[in-house]
Parts: sequence; structure tokens; C-alpha cells
Amino acid sequence: MFSRIVGTGGYLPARVVTNDELAQRVETSDEWIRTRTGIRQRYIAAPEEQTSDLALAAARGALTAADIAPSAIDLIVVATTTPDMVFPSTACILQAKLGVHGGPAFDVQAVCSGFVYALGLADLMVKSGQAKNALVVGAEVYSRILDWNDRGTCVLFGDGAGAAVLTPASAPGVMSSHLHADGHYRAILAVPGTVANGEVSGRPLLTMEGNTVFKFAVKVLAEVAQEALAANEMPASAIDWLILHQANLRIMDATAKKLHLPHEKMVITVDKHANTSAASIPLALDLAVRDGRIRPGQHVMLAGVGGGFTWGSVLLRW
Ligand code: ACO
Repeated sequence: MFSRIVGTGGYLPARVVTNDELAQRVETSDEWIRTRTGIRQRYIAAPEEQTSDLALAAARGALTAADIAPSAIDLIVVATTTPDMVFPSTACILQAKLGVHGGPAFDVQAVCSGFVYALGLADLMVKSGQAKNALVVGAEVYSRILDWNDRGTCVLFGDGAGAAVLTPASAPGVMSSHLHADGHYRAILAVPGTVANGEVSGRPLLTMEGNTVFKFAVKVLAEVAQEALAANEMPASAIDWLILHQANLRIMDATAKKLHLPHEKMVITVDKHANTSAASIPLALDLAVRDGRIRPGQHVMLAGVGGGFTWGSVLLRW
């Protein structure tokens, strides 16, 4: 038994914030942001929009594409670092908003690798017969955990959600998943705050050592993609589409170069979406499925890296 993705969806909030708009707030420029990161704009959620609202819109798109009723969903996994609240999980809140009952629903916290982790887990549950129709979502409102006066970080992120529906299949589908973490790197990218004794303690805003993150990301993205290729005895040239976590175009180009893949084989959304953390890979996947780039029989490599540090890949045959 295998699992395969039968529908994808995506959602971006209405408000677009350009680099020029950010340059009115912090000392930066469109030119600096574009040349260092490839980012031109990002979408920012409205104050009343929660992560579960973004997740709901993306989930509805994926369910419609899959032609599966919400009531048929018997597993919900939401990858997010910006949950609606401490608990219940965003997956449980999403389940209620979808009007679904009874199946397991839980969040995965693996920061920007979250969708790859969630997809890997859902694949195992579908393959083992524990779930039949799994809804896997990556959804984030990073705008809520940014220091909007820190030009080193606030220019890099955006809000959004992407989703996929996974069902049993007689052939893959999901060919393999490879997940990793190393907590020794926990300090280079973190939101070092918590709720304790009813109060926020620490600083609940994103901090980052940009250069260290950059180098680490290029190294492990290439390694974990190569791990998936080796496990499936495939050459890199067999990859039709490379969908990397969309953090920085330079990180993505350096990774593609290490894999000897041309720039054209990458799906790129970082220019328009910026870094939407766990939502970046499913949003890019949804875009390339909907515009017809990804076609049946093609091989799609998903690879993510994020705080923790965490990293992972999922290789798909579409
Ligand atoms: N506008 C203008 N200048 C800036 C800005 C900005 N928005 N941000 C930083 N600078 C300045 C710095 O202060 C520094 O000035 P100084 O030389 O006077 O000290 C100068 O630009 C150069 O800074 P560097 O950090 O060397 O610039 P670099 O080329 O490394 O780019 C960046 C910085 C874009 C953060 C890069 O390191 C990066 O993308 N790292 C990866 C971070 C990332 O993607 N994190 C996302 C989460 S992790 C993940 O998703 C995997």
C-alpha cells in the first residue's frame, strides 16, 4: 500500500506589502531585499485572521481539487509554528471549522520543515491503513512573531497556507520521506519566549543568525535531497521539479547547483510570498499543480529546512 496526493490548495491573505512599503518603516531598500533574498513582496494576514482561517481556506481548495467531502477526512495534520493558541491545536480548530468529527487531528511543530514532516507522518498513517483520507496543511501567520523594527528579519517573512489531500494508492505517490533534526543548532533561529505563570516570559519574537542559517540550509537541503535520490536509486537528473523551502533565492540557487539541477527546474514563489515557513512548500506545490507545470508521472522533490534545526525531504511521483 502507498499514498498519493490527490488534491492541493493554497491561500494568501488579501494584503500585499511591497519592499518599498517596508522601506518606509525600517532602514532598508527594495534593491537590498531583492538582491540579497529574491523577495519582492509578501502577504500579511488581517488582524482578525487566525492561522486556522488561512488553513481552512487552503484545505477547502485541496478538498475541492480532490473531489473529497470534508466528512470523508479521517486525519488532519497541521504544520505550524504560529498556532491560534497554546491549545487546542490548530488542527482541532480546523477540524471544527470544517465540520468534521472523530478522526485524529494534531499539529506538527518543525518550523519551516513542518509540511515535509507532516506529509511524511501522514504518508505512514495512510500506508499502514490507520487513515484513508488525510488532510495535511502548512499554515502560518509569521507577521505576529516578527520584530517589525528589526530590518534583519522583518523583510524576510510573510503569511499564508497550503494544503494537500492524501489517499491510499496501489503505486507511489509518496516514494519516500527522510526527516532529521539537530537541537544543538537551536539557538541560530528561534522565538525565545514562552507563556509561564500566565505571562509571556522571554522575547516571543523571531531572532536569527542569518549567515549561519544560510550556510546550514544550503548544506542540509542538498544532503537530504540526495538521501531521497539514493534511497530510490534515482539520479538527480530524474527530478522534474525541485520544490525547496522558500526562504531565500540564493539558498535555493546554491542548493540546485549542488544537485547539478538548472534553475528552471525549481518552483519559485519566494519573490511573491517571501518565507511563509511551513506554508511555503505546499503553496509552491499548489501553484505548480494548478498552472499545469507538474504533470502525471513526473518526479517532484520537496525539501525543507527550519528552526530546531530540522530538515527533511519527500520524493513524489505525481
Ligand atoms: N536592509 C538593508 N540592510 C540590511 C538589512 C536590510 N533589510 N538586513 C541586514 N542589513 C545589513 C546588515 O546590518 C549588514 O550591515 P553591516 O555590514 O553594516 O553590519 C549588511 O546588511 C550585511 O548583512 P549580512 O547578514 O552579511 O547580509 P547577507 O548577505 O548575509 O544577507 C540575510 C542577510 C538575507 C538575512 C541572509 O543571511 C539570509 O537570507 N540568511 C538566511 C536566513 C533565512 O532565510 N532565514 C529564514 C528562516 S530559516 C529558514 O527558513 C531555513
